[in-house]
Order: sequence, then C-alpha cells, then structure tokens
Amino acid sequence: MSYPQHLTAGTNAPRSSGQPLVARARFPLLHNQPDLVYLDSAASAQKPDVVIDRLMRFYSGEYANIHRGLYPLSETATEAYDAARGRIARFLGADKDEIIFTHNATEGVNLVAHAFGDANLRPGDLILTTLLEHHANIVPWQLLKERRRLRLAAVPVDANGDLDLARYEMLLSREPKLVCVTAAANTIGTVTPLKKIIELAHRFGALVMVDAAQATPHFRLDVKDLDCDFLTITGHKLYGPDGIGALYVKESLLADLPPFMGGGGIIRSVTIDHTDFADGPRRFEAGTPAIGAAIAFGTALDFIDEIGFDAIAAHDACLTDYAAGRLAEIGGLKILGHPRQRIGILSFVMDGLHPHDIGTLLGESGVCIRAGHHCAQPLMEHFGVTGTARLSFGVHNTTHDVDRLVDSLARVRQMLR
Ligand code: ALA
Repeated sequence: MSYPQHLTAGTNAPRSSGQPLVARARFPLLHNQPDLVYLDSAASAQKPDVVIDRLMRFYSGEYANIHRGLYPLSETATEAYDAARGRIARFLGADKDEIIFTHNATEGVNLVAHAFGDANLRPGDLILTTLLEHHANIVPWQLLKERRRLRLAAVPVDANGDLDLARYEMLLSREPKLVCVTAAANTIGTVTPLKKIIELAHRFGALVMVDAAQATPHFRLDVKDLDCDFLTITGHKLYGPDGIGALYVKESLLADLPPFMGGGGIIRSVTIDHTDFADGPRRFEAGTPAIGAAIAFGTALDFIDEIGFDAIAAHDACLTDYAAGRLAEIGGLKILGHPRQRIGILSFVMDGLHPHDIGTLLGESGVCIRAGHHCAQPLMEHFGVTGTARLSFGVHNTTHDVDRLVDSLARVRQMLR
C-alpha cells in the first residue's frame, strides 16, 4: 500500500519493520496480559502509562472543581484544564478559543446540529452526508431534518469504497447548506480527500463538518490548512481517557452560536427571566466537565506527538500491507473495499461465517477485533453485507499480532466448516 505524502508530516517517512512503535510494556493492560492480541484500536485505544499516571496524579494530588473555587487547588486545576484546551488547539492547528470540550465525537456532531442547525437552517434546506459515515454523522442530521423539516442526501461510494466525487459535485449544485463528512471511515479505513471536499463545498456556499474521530490517531489534520468549519475528535481513540472529546468551531462561526445546553459555567449573569451568556467555548460547556479526562487528553496528545505521524503512517502501512497479504492466504475470505488511501483498518467477511461468530471465537483465543455493522449500516448495505469482522492497528501492534490473528482464523474456519 502506498501511503499518501499529505498524510505524513515530512517527505522522508521512515520505513517500518512491523515492530511495535511503542513497547507493549508502556501499556499496563497489555503488559499485564502478555498473550492478548489487541487489534481493536479503532473502537478504543489502550492507554499508555503516561496517561494513566496523569489521571492518578490529578485525582490523588490535584483534584478540585474548576472555575469555581478561589483556593489554590481549584486554581491549579483550572489552569491545567485550560492548558489542555491549548494543547488540543495546538494538535489541530486551531486557536484555543475555537476548541470546545465535549464528552466524545458524537456530542460534537450533536452540538453543531443543535447550536448551528437549529439556529440557521430553514425548512427545505439541504444537508449532505456520505455513505462512508458512522451513524454519529448521520443520525443527528436525521433528527435535525425532522426538527427543521430539512432535506438530507448522501454522497455515494464506489465499489472500492471511495467517495464518488462526480456525484458529490452534482449534489453540490443543489446548494446544500452543510456537508458532513468523515476524514477516515471507521469500517474500511477510507481516507477522504478532505481538502478538495471542503474547497468544493465552500465554492458552492456550504459549510463543512468533519468527523475526525478515526483519522486523528493516524495522521495530522490542521484545521486552518483544511479550512473546515467544524471538526470533531474524541480522546479515547487518541490513547486518552474516554468521556472526553473536543469540537473545533471556526472563530467567525463560534461567536454567533447559541448555547447547546443550559446550566452553570456558561453564563455572565442570570436573572429569573434572562441569561447573558459567556463568550467563547465556555458558552457550550454547561455543568462540571470531565476535568481529569481533559487534562490526561492533553498528555495523550504529547504521547502521540512524541511518536510522530511519520512513524505512525509507516507503521500503519507496513502492518496493513502485511495483514492484507496474510489474510489472502485464507480461503473464502474477502476484504471489503480497496480505497485509494486507507488508515490501519481492514474489514473482511468469510464465506459461510457470521462476523459475530468470527469475533466471538477469536476473542476466546485472546484475539480482540470488532465484528458487526460498526455503526455504519448504510455502508454495509452498499457492500451487500450485514456486518464484517474488522481489525484495526494501534502503535503497540506487530506483525506477530497479525500472525496470531491469521492462525486463529484458520482454526475458526476449521471449527465452523
Ligand atoms: N466508533 C467506534 C468503532 O468504529 C466505536 O469501533
């Protein structure tokens, strides 16, 4: 597999030998379970020692609520939380005031649907999504469509699993108000040509919402370079804690967005009849946030940046190529989708075997993959299946993990023959 230059930070991406980029020993769970083969980082990444240590340090020595207490512990926690916002901004090339903390990528999409969609879209307006999307980038738009009596259409996908850009341009001529697109598909790993998609959308007057939950662990996305309008990410796929995510909103749009939820922490003043809301991202962060998770999310981004996206891209490419070759040795196994560019994700089906049976039996032999529709039923329908078995790589994986998977699959094939 050739890895596109734009997915790596430099021009001389290092070659990978299929060894771990980061030793298993750095992941306490993997260290404690040496026989476990974890090939499900697209569902959630295992947590490295530095992230777990940061959570421990915060809760055992630094914990207090933020923005509320005037005592030193609360002030220090507030500073650490604000620093984490800055760290996420730096990771995405955004300004700090353009980063809203959420609880996951899904909340980011819902926030845009409510705060932007309810306030700005009118009956009959068109929203475009795509067939590559996770349900998180479809269902909130369906709900908005019902609330606002909008229209919703999807950009189709070709037989390889790439977006059909000719059809995209045709749909753009219907003048949608918003295009909602993934940066990388969670099912088959397709990397979408985001820059082109965004440039075309803007040319036709549409804003663009990017679901970057799967892409950000694999390659650098710079929101200014992309010129996207909204972009959502999640901490748990980026080696950080669960329950924390972030939404980028372009500054010019954020200034006019009404709050998503009401509550404390988002106001300047409140009377029984009226509220003046705070400026900036805090206007969207009602209630006590996931403080420790936000701080450890920042640590996870340090962890990723220390590894570097050049090395991650080379490692992904090596393991994906190796896995595709080894899976081809198994009779009756078919990999779904052959996109032009893909992250370290492969989805496959096996003749006569239900994906759930594959997943369960692999699990019994200590191999963790995801099986089912992957919250992407429209794409499953496109490929004429109800589900797949999916393996996905993280920085701890090796070719040995792939060999263990293939050996186990061969046994599954024999057992269920
Ligand atoms: N969205 C996650 C996945 O694709 C959970 O597995």
